[in-house]
Amino acid sequence: MKRLTIFIAAILVALPAAAQRRTADLPKFEGLADTPQMGWNSWNCFMTEINEDLIKATADAMVELGLVDAGYIYLNLDDGWHGDRDELGFITCDPVKFPSGIKALADYVHSKGMKLGIYSDAGDFTCAGYSGSRGHEYQDAITYASWGIDYLKYDWCATQNANPKGSYILMRNALAKAGRPILFSMCEWGSNKPWEWAADVGHSWRTTGDIGPAFLPVPITYNEQGRPNWRPQSIIDIINQNEPLRKYAGPGHWNDPDMLEVGNNITVNGIYYEMTDSEDRAHFTMWCMMAAPLILGNDLTKITPEALATITNKEMIAIDQDPLGVQGLRLINEETLQYWFKPLANGEWAFCVMNTGEEPANIALDWSKLEVDDQEVSGRKTSFDTINYTSKNIWNPKEKPFTTLVKGKGKQRGQMVTNVVNVTVPVHDVVAYRLTPVK
Ligand code: GLA
Repeated sequence: MKRLTIFIAAILVALPAAAQRRTADLPKFEGLADTPQMGWNSWNCFMTEINEDLIKATADAMVELGLVDAGYIYLNLDDGWHGDRDELGFITCDPVKFPSGIKALADYVHSKGMKLGIYSDAGDFTCAGYSGSRGHEYQDAITYASWGIDYLKYDWCATQNANPKGSYILMRNALAKAGRPILFSMCEWGSNKPWEWAADVGHSWRTTGDIGPAFLPVPITYNEQGRPNWRPQSIIDIINQNEPLRKYAGPGHWNDPDMLEVGNNITVNGIYYEMTDSEDRAHFTMWCMMAAPLILGNDLTKITPEALATITNKEMIAIDQDPLGVQGLRLINEETLQYWFKPLANGEWAFCVMNTGEEPANIALDWSKLEVDDQEVSGRKTSFDTINYTSKNIWNPKEKPFTTLVKGKGKQRGQMVTNVVNVTVPVHDVVAYRLTPVK
């Protein structure tokens, strides 16, 4: 009897520990997104019309165009790669679109020095109606790992009453258990404020609905039943939603204002959307100022020299990828002019002015009126009154640098005084500078 009591007592002690072991959460992979991820994704341009030849041609183009050298290392399949689940519930790829299989595609992409991304959904179905991962999370994670996948975009369609945090943690645990480092890109459009709970769940989280190649907000149109038609989120809409969330972003966990539309065009409900080269430049600049993931969304086999110049501007990319990892702030938001700053490592700042108006803007940059005190988020201050910065014009590198302090004239002779710099910001465009303290 005594033995039995001891035995039962031992089981009672051991049980909670075992149960705890079984349910313990596993951490996300660290070090995969110390700076925002960069790559290409098939959705914005091709939607579900993807296949092996297209993805291989895109991989080739990414190398040939210098995009891999510029840092765009992920090549990501979005929705529509899926075939059926097999009799055991394992996912397969569409045998017509991907006859060689995803593992062969991953090998090809890896041989080019890139990484391969894939897409799934926390619900029963993906947004385009293919099989979702709900109930198959561990199976899918093992499958992706065995294929050599490096990145997972995880969507939020057909989730019904699923708990968002629980669903994303479940997939994070499954990826961790599968053991292959896979960047986890959460895509629930900001519906459940992931910035408040996902820093240790994913490497980035979408903050908005789906982007389109539209600079200014798109007017609402209605269908025959009187319901509003789907319309893309414009660049300006997205900036307004993403900017207030800056304090939540940082190395390893970024706000994701959706993929890039530089060089892309779409037709939705009979409406054609395309941005000008200036708008593309402003869009790219703002994504870099906001430390956003830089995921290209255009047809790289047909890229224009202008779009290529925008997405490969090394100085601009360096602002996005700055190791300090602070999302930029909007200091002034006037009717048609926005003034932005982003604290960079080593005491530097990125600065830009965006013109959302229909006329070129001639403005005088008076640094004494552009003082930034970012104690709350980065603990940084521009101190234009005491620190002298020298400029580098990011989109016009031949421009002669200016300094923010200059030698005074007249009564102020012998003192350093604030410089006032005249610039013109073209329509729907930006001027952007890197400001470096003068030693
Ligand atoms: C959602 C996402 C998009 C894209 C599609 C695919 O709308 O937000 O980025 O992945 O699904 O169906």
